[in-house]
Amino acid sequence: MSPATTSSAQGYPPSKEFAAQANATAEMYDRADADRLEFWAEQARRLDWDTDFDQVLDWSGAPFAKWFVGGTLNVAVNCVDRHVAAGKGERVAIHWVGEPGDSRDLTYAQLQDEVSKAANYFSAIGLVAGDRVAIYMPMVPEALISMLACARLGLTHSVVFAGFSAGALRSRVDDAEAKLVITTDGQYRRGKPAPLKAAVDEALGSGDDAAKSVEKVLVVRRTNHDENLPWVDGRDVWWEDTVDEQSATHSPEAFDAEHPLFLLYTSGTTGKPKGIVHSSGGYLTQASYTFHNVFDHKEGRDVFWCGADIGWVTGHSYLVYGPLSNGATEVVYEGTPNSPNEHRHFEIIEKYGVTIYYIAPTLIRTFMKWGREIPDAHDLSSVRLLGSVGEPINPEAWKWYREVIGGDTAPIVDTWWQTETGAIMISPLPGVTEAKPGSAMKPLPGISANIVDDQGNPVSHGEQGYLVLDQPWPSMLRGIWGDEDRFRETYWSRFAEQGWYFAGDGARYDDDGALWVLGRVDDVMNISGHRISTAEVESALVGHAGVAEAAVIGAADETTGQGIVAFVILREGVENTGEALVKELREQVSIEISPIAKPREINVVPELPKTRSGKIMRRLLKDVAEGRELGDTSTLVDPSVFEAIRQKRA
Ligand code: WT7
Repeated sequence: MSPATTSSAQGYPPSKEFAAQANATAEMYDRADADRLEFWAEQARRLDWDTDFDQVLDWSGAPFAKWFVGGTLNVAVNCVDRHVAAGKGERVAIHWVGEPGDSRDLTYAQLQDEVSKAANYFSAIGLVAGDRVAIYMPMVPEALISMLACARLGLTHSVVFAGFSAGALRSRVDDAEAKLVITTDGQYRRGKPAPLKAAVDEALGSGDDAAKSVEKVLVVRRTNHDENLPWVDGRDVWWEDTVDEQSATHSPEAFDAEHPLFLLYTSGTTGKPKGIVHSSGGYLTQASYTFHNVFDHKEGRDVFWCGADIGWVTGHSYLVYGPLSNGATEVVYEGTPNSPNEHRHFEIIEKYGVTIYYIAPTLIRTFMKWGREIPDAHDLSSVRLLGSVGEPINPEAWKWYREVIGGDTAPIVDTWWQTETGAIMISPLPGVTEAKPGSAMKPLPGISANIVDDQGNPVSHGEQGYLVLDQPWPSMLRGIWGDEDRFRETYWSRFAEQGWYFAGDGARYDDDGALWVLGRVDDVMNISGHRISTAEVESALVGHAGVAEAAVIGAADETTGQGIVAFVILREGVENTGEALVKELREQVSIEISPIAKPREINVVPELPKTRSGKIMRRLLKDVAEGRELGDTSTLVDPSVFEAIRQKRA
C-alpha cells in the first residue's frame, strides 16, 4: 500500500487557532540545527535528575551511544512521584476500561502507592537492579504498575505481548534469563475469558526442561475463570496475597542514565527475534519530549488515548513513559475495538472526553469499513488532535480520519519510528508543520534523517531510496541483548563507512521536500502495524511434519496493510488434503508464534521460484500474490513454475 506521491498532494497548513496555542514552535527547528546537543540537553532538563549529567553525548564507542553521561535519575519517580510531590496527586493518571465493561480510575497518588507496593515485593523476593523481569499480561492496570515498579528498582523489564504463544514466551524468557514472570490467570478475548497462565506453565516447563532462570511467577487475578488453576507451589504466587500486602511507601534509588530500562523483542530478517535494549535517561528524554510536542499535550486539560498494546513499543513509549512523565491523564483500554460492538472506541472517547487519539491505519481502515454512521452516532467533539502510527497511512484513510473522527479540524500527526528508535522520529509538528495526507513530513527538531541510494548518495526529490538516520538520537537502541555482532550487522553495516543507522525502510521526498515512508525493503512484513519476519513464519511452517519448504511474503491488503501469503512444498508422499491441511498449517503458525502471524492464504505448490544460486525470489511471489504481471524472470532456474503456482491460486 504505497501512498501515491505528488507534490500537488493537498497540504493542510496548521490553523491559526491551533498554532496560537501549540507547544511546538518553528524556532525549535532552528535551535536544534544550530546546536543539536544543547537542544537535547534542554529537553533532558524537562526531567528530574538526581545527579546532573556532565556530557550530553559520548559517541566515541559508536555505534554504542551514551547520552547524558554522568547523570542519574529514577524513571518511575519521573513518571509518578514528582507529580504527586508537585501537588497533582489527585489528578487521574489512568482511566482504565476493561473489556467486559468494568472500569477503574487511578490517580497519580494511587499509582504511586501501587508502584511502591510492587517495588517492595520485588525487592522482598531478592530482585536487584539489573535483573530481568518478563511481563506477559493483558492490558490491566497491574501491567503498567509492574513496568513502573521495575523501573523504580532498576530491574530491566521485557514485556511479551500476551497474544504470543508459549513457545515465543519461552525463547524470550530464556534469552533474557528472566527471574520473575508476571502474568494473569486469564485474559478476555472478545467477551470471553481465555487462559493465560496456562501458557506460562507450558512455556516454563518442568523437570529437566524447566526454564532455569525463573524463580517466581506472579499472578494477577483477572478472569477468575478457573477454580483449579494449575499451580506450582513455591514458584507461583498471587498478586493479591503478596504485592497487596506490602507497604505503600518505598524510597527510590537513582540509576545511571545508561541503565537498561527495558528489553523489547522484535522481528528481524532471521527467524530469531532480537531483544532491543533501551536506556533510562536518553529514552525517557525523547519519549517525554515527543509526547509534549508531537501530541501538543496540555497538562490537566487533555485526555490522551493511545490504542496500542503494552506488548509493542508504542505501548511502552505512549502508554507508559511518554504520557506519565508528562503528568498526563490517559485512557487504557483492555479489549478489542469491536467488543461488545463497533461503538466501543467512540463510546470511550465520548465518556472520557478524549482529546488526543493515537491509533494505527489498520484500525482507521476497519472503522471505514464499518461505516461512518457508527462514529457519527457519538459526540466526538472533544477530539482536537489525531495520531497515526505503525505503517504508511493511505491518503483516503487520512482524510476520513480527519473528517469523521477529527471534525474536519483536528491536525493529524503521522508518526514514523520503530522499536529500535524508541520514540517518534519523523512527524509533522502540530501547529507548526503543514501536513500532507500520507506523508510523515520531516524529522523532528533534534533528529536527522536522509534518503540515500545504495552508495549513500542523497537521492533527488521524487526518487526512491533508503531511509537512514545519520546522527545519533537520545532514545536510540543501545544494542541487541547479548549479541553485539548482530547489532552492528543489522543496523550499521549497510552504511558502515558513513556510520549511519539503516532503518530497513524505503522512502522518498516529494517535490516540496516532504518525506514519504514507503515501507520495508527487507524481509520484514507489516501486518496491521505488527512487525513479523518472513523467516519466522517460514520456519514455523517447515516445523510441520508434512512441509518440505516454505516461502512467505507480505502482499498488499486493503485493511491490514499487508497480509501474509505462504507458498509451501509438501514432503514426498505427503497427501495434500486441501482445506484441512491449510487449517493445520495456519494452526501451526499460531502455536509457534501467535494468531497474529497466521497466513491469510497458503498455497501448496509443486516448486518455488529460485535463482540459480538457490535463493527464493520473493519479489516474484509477491507479484503473483498481488495479481501483477510478473517482473523479470530471467534469473529463474525454471520460469514455468509460475504456471503451476498460478493454476493453484485460480
Ligand atoms: C516499522 C517499525 C513505530 C511503532 C510501531 C511499529 C513501519 C512505523 C510508520 C509510519 C510508515 C511506518 C516502518 C518501520 N512504520 N510507523 N508512520 N509510516 N511506516 O514499530 O514494530 O518496530 O515497526 O513500522 O516500516 O520500520 P515496529
